Amino acid sequence: MTAITDFVSYEAQGSVGVVTVNNPPVNALSVGVRAGIKGGVEAAIADDSVSAVVLACEGRTFIAGADITEFGKPPMEPGLHEVIGVIESSSKPVVAAIHGTALGGGLETALGCHYRVANGTAKVGLPEVKLGLLPGAGGTQRLPRVVGIPMALTMIAGGNPIGAKKALEVGLISEIIEGDLTEGAIAFAKKVVAEGRPLVKISDQNDKLEEAKSNPAIFDDFRKSIARKSRNFEAPENCIKAVEGSVNLPFAEGLKRERELFMELMQGEQSKAQQYFFFSERLANKIPDVPKDTPLIDINTAGIVGAGTMGGGIAMNFLQAGIPVTIVETTQEALDKGIGIIEANYAATVSKGRMKQEAMDKCMSLLTGTTSLEDLADVDIVIEAIFENMDVKKEIFGKLDAICKDGAILATNTSTLDIDEIGEATKRPEYVIGLHFFSPANVMKLLEEVRTKKTSATVMATCMALAKRIGKVPAMVGVCDGFVGNRMLAQRGEQANKLILEGAKLEDVDRVLFDFGMPMGPFAMSDLAGNDVGWRIRQGRGVTSPVADAICELGRFGQKTGDGYYHYEKGSRTPQPDPIVEDIIVKAARDAGINRREVSDEEILKRCIYPMINEAAKILEEGIAARASDIDVIWVYGYGWPIYRGGPLRYADHIGLENIYNDLLKFKEEHGDEWTPAPLLEKLAKEGKGFKDL
Ligand code: 3HC
Repeated sequence: MTAITDFVSYEAQGSVGVVTVNNPPVNALSVGVRAGIKGGVEAAIADDSVSAVVLACEGRTFIAGADITEFGKPPMEPGLHEVIGVIESSSKPVVAAIHGTALGGGLETALGCHYRVANGTAKVGLPEVKLGLLPGAGGTQRLPRVVGIPMALTMIAGGNPIGAKKALEVGLISEIIEGDLTEGAIAFAKKVVAEGRPLVKISDQNDKLEEAKSNPAIFDDFRKSIARKSRNFEAPENCIKAVEGSVNLPFAEGLKRERELFMELMQGEQSKAQQYFFFSERLANKIPDVPKDTPLIDINTAGIVGAGTMGGGIAMNFLQAGIPVTIVETTQEALDKGIGIIEANYAATVSKGRMKQEAMDKCMSLLTGTTSLEDLADVDIVIEAIFENMDVKKEIFGKLDAICKDGAILATNTSTLDIDEIGEATKRPEYVIGLHFFSPANVMKLLEEVRTKKTSATVMATCMALAKRIGKVPAMVGVCDGFVGNRMLAQRGEQANKLILEGAKLEDVDRVLFDFGMPMGPFAMSDLAGNDVGWRIRQGRGVTSPVADAICELGRFGQKTGDGYYHYEKGSRTPQPDPIVEDIIVKAARDAGINRREVSDEEILKRCIYPMINEAAKILEEGIAARASDIDVIWVYGYGWPIYRGGPLRYADHIGLENIYNDLLKFKEEHGDEWTPAPLLEKLAKEGKGFKDL
């Protein structure tokens, strides 16, 4: 075996030269890998003892893409185009042997090969759009030539990978290899030579483009089909334009067009924010004071206390991950209702074709219902998901402590209560943790994990790993009122309520935040979640909110009652402004002695977002969140903050902390001390720094 570079080796195995990439963890195409592949393929071409080449990878995956850490740095030779050019123009057939994931530049490299084979579990895709980019090494020109325009548009502008079976079906790979992949790929390469199969250069193949030439509407139809999902995103449109280039331009010109569109995105703020977010999400997995090699508790079974909306949703995550769940309710009736809802949710997913009936049956077979807490004696983790009442929760945790085996984790899904206090109701506070799921719990990706002063490193590490297993993105935070997400949300809610009293229309507040990129504004969100939820919390705390209370007193709990801040026609979720609500607001403003005025969109945006940023600075100062980027992860996955803005703190850095600081001072002058800048924000602003510098 010859080392071509530190990351790539070459070896002749009989009549086939094998070029092997080894750049853990995901064989990203850093400069050493690019140089190695180029050198390896050139070595094979020069090696008279071989008549074909296999490109394979060590470790858990084929090449998973360009090395994202190189983005934004000066380019280093050889570029990926050059490497792919050497492969495609090779005089000997080159076969890519794909396992794990061939993504982005990885798939583009494979598309430069004359043939591709894969093992059965492999996935292939062009996910660049998820980084705010488009495939920049020929992917937008070669993929359409293999799979046709409709499929290429879906894969490139959607970014989701496809499995080996599908890839075989659409001609993206030639064979699925059973057994050892490299051996299978070598055998395939020998077959290509023996049968005198052609050196397939995808760049020369134009047949699959014909359909789009005769039906140019294909692109506009696709645009319409993704309009809602891709609202405000720049990358999907550039992806479509690049694929259009594959049809309208010769290959070489198409590559140039792809380059232009790629660079446009690369230089824009959206892709920078999305790349930042890619690493933030992965960083959030790591807790600074919990070592990487912390031993984990085996989680093979779970118990859930409470089969209401949250409990049921949480259970579904575990069931889908193949973890048996015992769910507990106080009465058989409530239990049957809860299990019925889980079943109905799965059935709806099956009927939409998004889940197979067998998968649903498997999930349901892993679910056991009971009305006895004693049945949780042997589970590895319990998640309590009952209503927010400290006394009741403490009583349940006391009981669970006595019932559950030693070493079982006792978690609470509370979104407001002091988990340190809950932990003290047990003799195992180091095993107590908050696992705050977001509603709907089977859909929302965020898992806000809450450590108490006593939660052990093992329990934290276990729950971080568990989150990944059940398909969630975790972020670890500390105990405080509302934890990170809801504590910041409360700031926004408070300002939204003040703005409507001062004269802003509530539909304008919602519109401004929707246009900013949030899935909906605060009033539409409250109507969706149920206005009674906040009302009960306020009543429990003895606080009032004139408009919100008046609305609830009229029974306007939101979408579920047909009226809330808005009116909803029967069967519709479209909010319609309601004069009754406007009257309530005007009266509340008069009672409070407020002179109503015009409020600009700019003021609405700043007054809703800046107090969240200020609160986040306090959260960081208090050590409730370990990193600014963790807060961004919470907001993107828990509240739908637009990923192309990276998260509230990335957005703050983009605006400039000095600008935000000055606006906070201005608002303080107009509205009082609640606008006092957090000391951390003030310090960073005065030093000309951002949250990124922490
Ligand atoms: N570049 C640099 N680092 C990368 C990387 C990449 N393309 N992909 C993953 N990594 C790093 C991660 O940051 C992480 O680092 P850490 O351990 O220090 O946190 C490590 O590799 C492992 O990643 P994951 O935790 O995500 O591992 P998983 O096994 O869960 O997932 C994966 C593996 C599916 C490959 C996932 O990492 C992934 O989706 N990666 C990104 C793929 C991608 O977007 N490729 C396109 C890149 S852009 C491109 O190719 C441009 C081209 O068109 C020119």
